[in-house]
Amino acid sequence: MRRAYPAGMTRRILVLNGPNLNLLGTREVDVYGSATLDNVLAAIRSAAAEREVEIYDVQSNAEGALIDALQEARTRAVGVIFNPGAYTHYSIALRDAIASIDVPVVETHLSNVHAREEFRHTSVLSGVCVGVIAGFGADSYLLALDALLRHLEH
Ligand code: DQA
Repeated sequence: MRRAYPAGMTRRILVLNGPNLNLLGTREVDVYGSATLDNVLAAIRSAAAEREVEIYDVQSNAEGALIDALQEARTRAVGVIFNPGAYTHYSIALRDAIASIDVPVVETHLSNVHAREEFRHTSVLSGVCVGVIAGFGADSYLLALDALLRHLEH
């Protein structure tokens, strides 16, 4: 479900990162690459600025804090780029939170979860997201930004 927003309103997007993504750059570098979370955020901020969009970000290792950020996005953001980390595969509470808010969410992964262990092939969140981007490393976030903006224009 999409929300109309007034022309001229600052388009603010939440970049939300779940558990262990604070360790990017040092964590399983062969899988996730050497860019730190700060590097990823700097790249998306600069792409967003070119598109006249504002970014704010939240990273938490705690499910409840991610739910709070999704709920808060109802009044702060026109859309959410969300890398839920391992919660992707089993958090019904996050699924319910995404389904409860009238803000489009793009599920975003650095790695191609479908080319990895079988337990990563299932996402309990995809069905309530507007789409999924996975497998392009840090570029997944930039692709998610463009996908989200195009979605909002429709
Ligand atoms: C991840 C993929 C998940 O399976 C994993 O638990 C992560 C990162 C990714 O960005 O590729 O923490 O979401």
